[in-house]
Amino acid sequence: MSRNKKLVSWVNEWSELCQPDNVYWCNGSEEENTRLLNEMVASGMAVKLDEKKRTGSYYFRSDPSDVARVENRTYICSVKEEDAGPTNNWADPVAMHSTLRALYKGSMRGRTMYVIPFSMGPLGSNIAHIGVELTDSPYVVVNMKVMTRMGQAVLDILGNGDFVPCVHSVGAPLEPGQKDSKWPCAPIEKKYIAHFPETHEILSYGSGYGGNALLGKKCFALRIATVMAKKQGWLAEHMLVMGITSPQGVKKYIAAAFPSACGKTNLAMLVPSIPGWKVETVGDDIAWMKFGSDGRLYAINPEAGFFGVAPFTSMDTNPNAMLSARANTMFTNTGLTPDGDVWWEGIGYDAPAGTITWTGELYDAQSGKPAAQPNARFSAPASQCPSIDKDWENPVGVPISAILFGGRRPSTVPLVYQSFDWNHGVFIGSIVGSEVTAAATGLKAGVRRDPFAMLPFCGYNMGDYFGHWVKIGVSAPDQSKLPKIFNVNWFRKSAEGKFLWPGYGDNIRVLQWIFERVEGKAEADETPIGYVPKPGSINTTGLNGFAANMAELLSVDHDQWKHELDLVREQYANFGSTLPKELARQIVAIEARLN
Ligand code: GTP
Ligand code: SPV
Ligand code: MN
Repeated sequence: MSRNKKLVSWVNEWSELCQPDNVYWCNGSEEENTRLLNEMVASGMAVKLDEKKRTGSYYFRSDPSDVARVENRTYICSVKEEDAGPTNNWADPVAMHSTLRALYKGSMRGRTMYVIPFSMGPLGSNIAHIGVELTDSPYVVVNMKVMTRMGQAVLDILGNGDFVPCVHSVGAPLEPGQKDSKWPCAPIEKKYIAHFPETHEILSYGSGYGGNALLGKKCFALRIATVMAKKQGWLAEHMLVMGITSPQGVKKYIAAAFPSACGKTNLAMLVPSIPGWKVETVGDDIAWMKFGSDGRLYAINPEAGFFGVAPFTSMDTNPNAMLSARANTMFTNTGLTPDGDVWWEGIGYDAPAGTITWTGELYDAQSGKPAAQPNARFSAPASQCPSIDKDWENPVGVPISAILFGGRRPSTVPLVYQSFDWNHGVFIGSIVGSEVTAAATGLKAGVRRDPFAMLPFCGYNMGDYFGHWVKIGVSAPDQSKLPKIFNVNWFRKSAEGKFLWPGYGDNIRVLQWIFERVEGKAEADETPIGYVPKPGSINTTGLNGFAANMAELLSVDHDQWKHELDLVREQYANFGSTLPKELARQIVAIEARLN
């Protein structure tokens, strides 16, 4: 319980509306966690995994309709429609409140309402922010325990202070005697993920899954935090943060924004394929960045765990993620083996006989039906990651030397290039595009624009967000200390449709070039789109067959780029007067260089 009057009356108000059987304040203890997990095992919602193979770990299967974020049911409910901008679904805040109140009325009947106080950022740090999530899902409680710092310690720090109010209901009330389903949720047309930028409120209804339900993550640490950051002059970004140490023992930190399921977790934990280099992990999904007193941009990871994509994670591709998920991990929508372990496509070995798929059927490799849903995920404590950085919980953050953008681009975009300056870097962020992935449902296949990898996560007008980035450059205490900006593309393909670049541990070769550019050492050619590595300036020792692809990987085809700029112009036209003139000028400049 809490003595915070605002909190207590808010909890009372919502419990009166939602009518749960009980209200339970989470203290965050191990005992509480074990009790909830045992209850879920008893009800059939969770399976306890083998204690030797996966100590303290549990397995969940969602409803087949509730497997990923739902972007078409995600709303920014600003008072003015123009403040949501052309890329968000806007809804009137008063109308949305009344729609949702009608749905929440009695929605927790037959269930417990859990009160989860949580901190995004290290407990008590002055850059951390506190939220409180009300939920009728015990699955959400045990996942919030992995992904955030939660429980009584947060209430102690909150005192009488302010918090971000987050309400979540799976939207499946139980009538007396009604048997619960294993994964209660509401049909798609009743799902709502609603954000109220003026009041910082988050109301989520109808989904139990990931970014729809663990409200500290995308809803708070990105959509609401972008609104706070704009007002207060900092950055809330969909970025991993990692440290890179050279063979000479020099360490630099970089941040990288790639769209969902485009390689952030993998890059953040990379095991270098070339000797002497070391990579350490600060975060794999979200970065909050502010200028420090020395004029450099510092980043913290507001999360405490990794909510990682399971398929194709293996001891070969990402051993650090595999080891992070060895214990105390929640798995959702993977396959389940008869000996109480999990299995997924690309895990590195064949499925044991008798493996059950995420839909509960016997797995048959010949059937074409995967054992794991393509967006199957694990929630693993960051503290268990072998590559975790010693400063990952430092409240000051880590100083950022370079910012990377990237996405899945089968053509046009070279393996790596560097911006000419900050505003050109903002332009590069604004034109990020990617082939769509399984991280959200209901999207058309093909390349879509995903500026700054923030298309689904920016809580206000994306044109104003571009302007905020331009302003960060202008307001930097020392221009020379701004991070250098790069674009990378691990996904360029040959005419035959094969990846030209090996990716994963070999990405260190590109990071080495970036590291050396930041030091003013590595060589580059000036092209119309930016600085591209000079032939031979990327370390290809031991790269074998792929070394022959370097020329194609680094090529800048003028006709393809003219077409690309036509697409960018189309995208930019949507922003009208909110598009910063600094970005409009970039297109003109690049077109002039291409002709
Ligand atoms: P979110 O958690 O959705 O934000 O995703 P993420 O950006 O952290 O992506 P993640 O690292 O989980 O990678 C998603 C998929 O991309 C996995 O199936 C990876 O195997 C694949 N992938 C990651 N890095 C590379 C790479 O360098 N090359 C190739 N070809 N695939 C990669
Ligand atoms: C993403 O989709 O970018 C994720 C997973 O990181 S979720 O938390 O579901 O948004
Ligand atoms: Mn993400």
